Amino acid sequence: MNGEFLNKIIQGDALLTISKLKSNSIDLVLTDPPYFLDKMDNGWDVKKVALITDYCHTIKSLPPGMKFDKEQGKKFYDWYYQVSKEIIRVLKPGGFFFSFSSPQLYHRMVSAIDDAGFLIRDCFIWLYTQNQPKAMNLNHFIEKLNEDKKSKENLKNQLAGWKTPQIKSCFEPIVMAQKETEGTFLKNFKKYNVGLLNTNVQIGDNMFPANVVSTNKISEVIDRCFLISKPDKKEKGELNTHKTVKPVSLCEYIIKLTTYSEDAIVLDPFAGSGTTLVAAKKLGRKFIGIDINEEYIEIAKERIKNTGKNYSVTEKLNSAIQMQIFESKVEYKRKHLKKLQRI
Ligand SMILES: C[S@@+](CC[C@H](N)C(=O)[O-])C[C@H]1O[C@@H](n2cnc3c(N)ncnc32)[C@H](O)[C@@H]1O
Repeated sequence: MNGEFLNKIIQGDALLTISKLKSNSIDLVLTDPPYFLDKMDNGWDVKKVALITDYCHTIKSLPPGMKFDKEQGKKFYDWYYQVSKEIIRVLKPGGFFFSFSSPQLYHRMVSAIDDAGFLIRDCFIWLYTQNQPKAMNLNHFIEKLNEDKKSKENLKNQLAGWKTPQIKSCFEPIVMAQKETEGTFLKNFKKYNVGLLNTNVQIGDNMFPANVVSTNKISEVIDRCFLISKPDKKEKGELNTHKTVKPVSLCEYIIKLTTYSEDAIVLDPFAGSGTTLVAAKKLGRKFIGIDINEEYIEIAKERIKNTGKNYSVTEKLNSAIQMQIFESKVEYKRKHLKKLQRI
């Protein structure tokens, strides 16, 4: 049933399209859904989104994030609960679901995923130092007050440095959720090839994989612990107009951590310009992408076409060896426990 979708990006609504996929067939869902801030919801319109993300401090309307609408969080929850219900159906037992979000609405997203039946395993943080602060000073509004020039000037001096409540945002939270395994981790892994993490995957300077990642050099300690390879300037593709492109290296990191076999299928139901799919193809995994927008689909297709498989056999060997060690440890514990029980 998944055959017709395999290694393709399909134009359509995520909820409707996922419902056509086979149950228990997907190894990993890695996605970056609409954040439900301002116009970035499930009615995503390319032109409107371009306008708000191109915002450059000209105050014709309020900047993104200022229009804080409590209803957006509730709408996000209701919609993402439905999406997560479909995702849990198509994931194999033990399969992981990684979903990006914004610090403002992460809680709604995780509650929806949790209530849909997933186990919330962790929260990853994508750390960066560069971002345009959205906070505004109030001079423009003070000018409009019906007061004399002197009191306006006084107020401006009084409020110098005080801005609207938007701190410079320097991280993105990513939930790591898991569909319950069928029996033990080992039994589940032997049957479905998912549910464990590949700790051979390195981060920073040969470090054990962590839930904090950075894709740009920040400082010696942070780079040593959390840096994953820097995004290549060309990786976005020359004509990529998508406004929220994620680094390929970040997607590669998550795919390597969680998928074992080359037959593993990675699903991204909000694929945008196709970053997850590019990473999956580079690693020799199978993929299925969905996006509602035709323009983004074309960009994604072009990026996928220009991506070659670039998969290190050593990593696969390492994870096979690790599996053997894991199995023998379990066997050892089992025998040891029996001995103890006899005593
Ligand atoms: C945050 S972007 C994903 C960007 C992507 N990670 C990348 O690197 O290019 C979210 C995407 O969700 C898509 N989208 C919005 N509503 C959708 C829906 N109902 N079904 C499928 N895709 C949708 C938008 O077109 C947008 O490309």
